[in-house]
Amino acid sequence: MGKVALITGITGQDGAYLAEYLLKKGYTVHGIKRRSSLFNTERIDHIYQDPHAEKRNFILHYGDMTDSMNLTKIVHDVSPDEIYNLAAMSHVKVSFDTPEYTANADGLGTLRVLEAVRLLDLTTKTRIYQASTSELYGLAQEVPQTEKTPFYPRSPYGVAKLYAYWITVNYREAYGLHASNGILFNHESPIRGETFVTRKITRAMAKIALGMQEALFIGNLSARRDWGHAKDFIKAMYLILQQDKPDDYVIATGVTSEVREFITRTFKSAGMEIAFSGTGEKETGEIISIDDAVFKERVGKEYIPAINTRIKSNPVVVRVDKSYYRPTEVDQLIGDATKARKKLGWIPEYDLEGLINEMVNSDIHLMKKENHIRNGGFRTLNYFE
Ligand code: NAP
Ligand code: GDD
Repeated sequence: MGKVALITGITGQDGAYLAEYLLKKGYTVHGIKRRSSLFNTERIDHIYQDPHAEKRNFILHYGDMTDSMNLTKIVHDVSPDEIYNLAAMSHVKVSFDTPEYTANADGLGTLRVLEAVRLLDLTTKTRIYQASTSELYGLAQEVPQTEKTPFYPRSPYGVAKLYAYWITVNYREAYGLHASNGILFNHESPIRGETFVTRKITRAMAKIALGMQEALFIGNLSARRDWGHAKDFIKAMYLILQQDKPDDYVIATGVTSEVREFITRTFKSAGMEIAFSGTGEKETGEIISIDDAVFKERVGKEYIPAINTRIKSNPVVVRVDKSYYRPTEVDQLIGDATKARKKLGWIPEYDLEGLINEMVNSDIHLMKKENHIRNGGFRTLNYFE
């Protein structure tokens, strides 16, 4: 019999990749999905199974991280070998607008999962992975950040995740739970939420290249992040739970880049050279040249005349909007994943270029579909979140 996993946050970026990965390994995967007025299963539709089918190895349950009775019942019914606690209000900027909810879902939600396992006497059976974050380092006290670097969170999200980190450690030490924290640095993909900076950039670039959007409006261009690919990072989650002993691990690529650089590289990947000028809120990015061969291959020959005409009249494609600034910012993150490399044998396969190319290809494809809809006379929106 294969193992049974329960994933909270299964409809999210990581939940979707992890579910697919565990199914391929022969697991039965249960996922918790919260009620929504829309289906909201787009990321997992390709692995969805009809509930009427007799034999299923992918099963969804309605639930919410703020509802302990519901979580306890699901853990009871599923009796999982492994729980991957990925559900969270995961947007740092939004956590300043919804601090209490974030504390409840991200902080207390973790406690609810741990308590369910303890109360149901599953402490010797069920292993728990907690989705901890490099946001714990916040105002980083050391460069690069390791498992030993002191935490200094800078947002309600970071503070909620700090509670979740320590309650996981505490349940491990107090009750002997196999409970581990993966301290994951930023990881992205073609299915990354549209309002995180990388996806916002790749989507906007694709629309600009196709003539569907004027400019990308962005916040702090100088923030630095250690960006990896979610496909690599979910493998680390799995490896962490396969260890004999629970422990906490930094998962990172060890390379940090500015938001500004991510933008430059994204446009370059589609054949557009960007130059930044000005400072602060007056900083802009403009297209200074087009590499026809790359643009033709990535975007399409038929879009070259329009982009050339457009940049002659208005080459500015990146503008700063201070409404995207955060009350307190995390300026720089860079992780040292030596422990994960040595103990888990975890080595990421993607570098930043590979990640950007994959996201760019996917978003150009997506926006072409949207463009067809628009050209067919239907309304499509440009989102500026
Ligand atoms: P994501 O795409 O935002 O997915 C979050 C998931 O949590 C979604 O399935 C969401 O459901 C669910 N969720 C939110 N609030 C919930 C609630 N109250 N009850 C039940 N489910 C709820 O995030 P992700 O990028 O996959 O990240 C997964 C986890 O890793 C999160 O805990 C995040 O904080 C953490 N993390 C992420 C990164 C990163 O760079 N991606 C780095 C470090 C740590 P809906 O689909 O209904 O919204
Ligand atoms: N979202 C967003 N939108 N961020 C912007 C923008 C913008 O328009 N302009 C600049 N940024 C900057 C943010 O200020 C931040 O410094 C950086 O880009 C990255 O922002 P996000 O992509 O929103 O990610 P994050 O680093 O705040 O949080 C993500 O990574 C954490 C791990 O470090 C989330 O996935 C968290 O859930 C995760 O824990």
